Amino acid sequence: MRSVCLLLLYTTVAFAASVIPDRKCRGVYFDNKYYDIEILKEGINKIHQLVFNNNDNTVYFTFGQIGAVPYRSLGYYNLDTRQAGLIGGVRNASGVAVDQIKNKVYVGGIDGVYALNRDKEPERYPIYDNIHKLFFRDVLYYINVRKEAYVFDNGIVNRMPELQTEKVDDIIVDDDDNVFFLQNDTLFRVKLGTRAINIHEGYPINVMAVDPYYRAFFSTKNGIFIYNKYKFALDRVSRMKDLRALAFTKNMEPIYAVVDILIKLKANPTNCYDYRI
Ligand SMILES: *[C@@H]1O[C@H](CO)[C@@H](O)[C@H](O)[C@H]1NC(C)=O
Ligand SMILES: *[C@@H]1O[C@H](CO)[C@@H](O)[C@H](O)[C@H]1NC(C)=O
Repeated sequence: MRSVCLLLLYTTVAFAASVIPDRKCRGVYFDNKYYDIEILKEGINKIHQLVFNNNDNTVYFTFGQIGAVPYRSLGYYNLDTRQAGLIGGVRNASGVAVDQIKNKVYVGGIDGVYALNRDKEPERYPIYDNIHKLFFRDVLYYINVRKEAYVFDNGIVNRMPELQTEKVDDIIVDDDDNVFFLQNDTLFRVKLGTRAINIHEGYPINVMAVDPYYRAFFSTKNGIFIYNKYKFALDRVSRMKDLRALAFTKNMEPIYAVVDILIKLKANPTNCYDYRI
């Protein structure tokens, strides 16, 4: 027993002494890794919502068309073929969400919600409302243009009971059943099935996102934070700021928009090297 403890202590000290002070890293730091920047596409105006579909390795996003009346469309970018395109058929496409298990992409516009079929054509889905944002975790959530939050479960639309009396601008739900919602740039949290709403002050939030494990991320002017469920607080994981949207590939590589540029962070193991020779 004692020798095991000594060995553990020894390896811990040896690791700390040899690895940490003798390493230097370059690139963009995000959640304990260093990445290279890869520009996927430029010239995307006012990205509204962005999701990544693991099944077809494709980013789906809604964005603003330039014109007299504000109008949004659905676009995509396939990481395998590097092809970008537009998907028509949804008027003022604003909300987009993905069910990774069923390989279904949902799109919401003025007339309600659609699901993309195999040919990427929108097919009517039984939700009739003027959609602002969508979110999927087990079930489909949506926010309409009146800022009311709803859940679609087993063919039935209901106001989210947790947010019955709240006006909200955006929502996500994490792996621990926490609902995070924004009122303008103020962040609130409530557990699914409860009514006790907590506020996270001090961090005006411009973007919320979940990774493939449904961990919750928040972009602010002071960097990107992750929700720490043991501390009930946000921890900073990157100095990147002013993102317009954020999503993650199945390999946990961040994809995000800054101004009108769509960017992917590419993991590069050679970004950290020993400088003691
Ligand atoms: C599209 O949606 C935006 C945001 O809700 C709204 O301001 C705009 O008027 C809509 N456009 C049309 C043509 O309905
Ligand atoms: C955001 O702020 C505006 C202006 O103060 C307010 O009218 C609106 O209701 C706020 N949004 C929410 C969801 O509270």
